[in-house]
Amino acid sequence: MKYTIDILMGSQSDLVIMTPAIDIIQSFGVKCTVNVLSAHRTPHETIAFVEQSTSDVFIAGAGGAAHLPGVIAGITTKPVIGVPINAAISISGIDSLLSIVQMPPGVPVATVGINGAKNAGILAIQILGVADPDIQKQLIQFKADQRQAVLAANEAIQNQAIHTSKP
Ligand code: RP5
Repeated sequence: MKYTIDILMGSQSDLVIMTPAIDIIQSFGVKCTVNVLSAHRTPHETIAFVEQSTSDVFIAGAGGAAHLPGVIAGITTKPVIGVPINAAISISGIDSLLSIVQMPPGVPVATVGINGAKNAGILAIQILGVADPDIQKQLIQFKADQRQAVLAANEAIQNQAIHTSKP
């Protein structure tokens, strides 16, 4: 395969939230690796992993004092997408969000919404799609499919008895 996206998460407990990123990336035929590596519990291994990586984009999810995406961004020149996770220790995910989004100037992390792993996967694919016509074509189809799904849902709701706009 042409491209690789590295997905990292701070704990195995994050996997359930990060799985939509894996699924959407694979649906575009792009390879991704998945690793549990923590900025706090395995700092040396995290740095070693990022330094040896040949991937094109990183996605990192973490909860609480979520420093994993920022640490990765401090090492690599590749794009880093951060997923704030509403973990058991989190304050509704707000702590994770602020930890990831408020990076110092010069070290950006593209931060998606709380538990927004699917969007992280799509954004990673869109980054690859800038220079790849095949991925671009798939993205156009993806958008068209989404549009059709909403139009079909709208049509279905018009036919339901619960529709109450009529007097
Ligand atoms: C963070 O702490 C992890 O990303 C996870 O979201 C949170 C809790 O980790 P566990 O105690 O579930 O391992 O570093």
